[in-house]
Amino acid sequence: CERQDFRASKQRLLVVANRLPVSAVRRDDDSWHLEISVGGLVSALLGVKEFETRWIGWAGVNVPDEIGQKTLIKALAEKRCIPVFLDEEIVHQYYNGYCNNILWPLFHYLGLPQEDRLATTRSFQSQFDAYKKANEMFAAVVNEHYVEGDVVWCHDYHLMFLPKCLKDSNRNMKVGWFLHTPFPSSEIHRTLPSRTQLLRSVLAADLVGLVNFSPGLDSPGSLNIARVLSLPVLTCRKSWLVKLMIENFLQPKELFFHTYDYARHFVSACTRILGLEGTPEGVEDQGKLTRVAAFPIGIDSDRFIRALELPQVQDHMKELKERFAGRKVMLGVDRLDMIKGLPQKILAFEKFLEENPQWRDKVVLLQIAVPTRTDVPEYQRLTSQVHEIVGRINGRFGTLTTVPIHHLDRSLDFHSLCALYAVTDVALVTSLRDGMNLVSYEFVACQASKKGVLILSEFAGAAQSLGAGAILVNPWNVTEVASSIGYALNMPADEREKRHHHNFVHVTSHTSQEWAATFVSELNDTIVEAQLRTRQ
Ligand code: G6P
Repeated sequence: CERQDFRASKQRLLVVANRLPVSAVRRDDDSWHLEISVGGLVSALLGVKEFETRWIGWAGVNVPDEIGQKTLIKALAEKRCIPVFLDEEIVHQYYNGYCNNILWPLFHYLGLPQEDRLATTRSFQSQFDAYKKANEMFAAVVNEHYVEGDVVWCHDYHLMFLPKCLKDSNRNMKVGWFLHTPFPSSEIHRTLPSRTQLLRSVLAADLVGLVNFSPGLDSPGSLNIARVLSLPVLTCRKSWLVKLMIENFLQPKELFFHTYDYARHFVSACTRILGLEGTPEGVEDQGKLTRVAAFPIGIDSDRFIRALELPQVQDHMKELKERFAGRKVMLGVDRLDMIKGLPQKILAFEKFLEENPQWRDKVVLLQIAVPTRTDVPEYQRLTSQVHEIVGRINGRFGTLTTVPIHHLDRSLDFHSLCALYAVTDVALVTSLRDGMNLVSYEFVACQASKKGVLILSEFAGAAQSLGAGAILVNPWNVTEVASSIGYALNMPADEREKRHHHNFVHVTSHTSQEWAATFVSELNDTIVEAQLRTRQ
């Protein structure tokens, strides 16, 4: 009875994301096998437990027949998931096309594909039409399951058209939208032919959330920064408060302000492209305020820490230690995506081996490259390129019994991944651009005893939270990454300990639970404030 009361008091949260946290695979006997999906969004949202949550999204499979749809709806209901059925053509145009060939590279500063530079090309227009249509299909499913009082939380670049669709059908719905990728400078965003429609649609939401700090700051090695970053998320989102804290606690000369910042970029895009007014709280259009704020995402760190105690994880760690005895273990875990900078990372490792022959049989790079978006030609080209480089380097530095790079084109189960993180000496997260990058957080969570070193791209959102503990690098600078590898491998224990401590405190105190709770409570407050304003 108590449990029922507790559950009844939880707020209902409809999480709407392109991908459900599970992907469905149809078995020969027409039953369904559900597998956990990969990616930062799923990793963060799995830790959200405070709400009565329903997920709405695509199960990653085409289900043309009615019987299949019915059985899948039933199978997913057990996981509190509700599917949106997208046919092959829509997936091709909306997901492979507009989302992953246009928005994803653009938001990560890789520009628009050459053939789509002109807004008038047929492929661009048909992809955008499919994008709108897919968003309308998501809206229809939300409307079907919405109960008054629910909070609707839309996620990521796939669903920028959704806030408007939802508000058009019910202006009282509480709608938040959160972007897990960077939001680029307005100069980049303005190259997008549908720039205006997307911004206007997102502004229909009550609250717009972006992943990184505002203002962003880091100061590698400075302990002062730890004081600022370990303060509660809420305070970090209030830029005037951060300024006040900085003025009171820190010497200005010790600070470096990042020139990029996703929340600020979003507001600038609205002011420069739409001609609207930016305020310290967000964006205002004819008296209507849309709140825009940064909500730094985290992971469910306890899940990783607890897993390390399990016998199967301990056994796996033992096996790995025996397998790589006498060698330092370096690790990369990335989706095989152009933003992750895999070729650059592997070339940096090659340079390190070239310049440090004494390390050649004493270090191994384990690269887990999770296949992703395999129908998009750009990703297919990248896979071949990475394989070619790995093959060449292994041919060059391998021996009859060992190779310097173990490259795996697959994902690992959760327990194997935890074991791998725990035995790693140096993790290499060298994305060319990344919203936050939660692999860096997962690695830190698993390093309580080893205190390994994190080499982290300055272009990952995580650089702003883990910058003081990690070695920050420019991933495009292969020479710099190669010398950072040497520095990390030779780092004295006391320095490793200090750096790890900073990062561990951050990762374990800025969790996904806290992130979600803060976003939803801010969304609730925003709506109450808006109602008060209207009444005045
Ligand atoms: C990133 C995106 C997520 C996406 C994930 C996996 O983390 O921000 O929205 O789900 O990549 O990509 P996929 O295309 O397989 O869903």
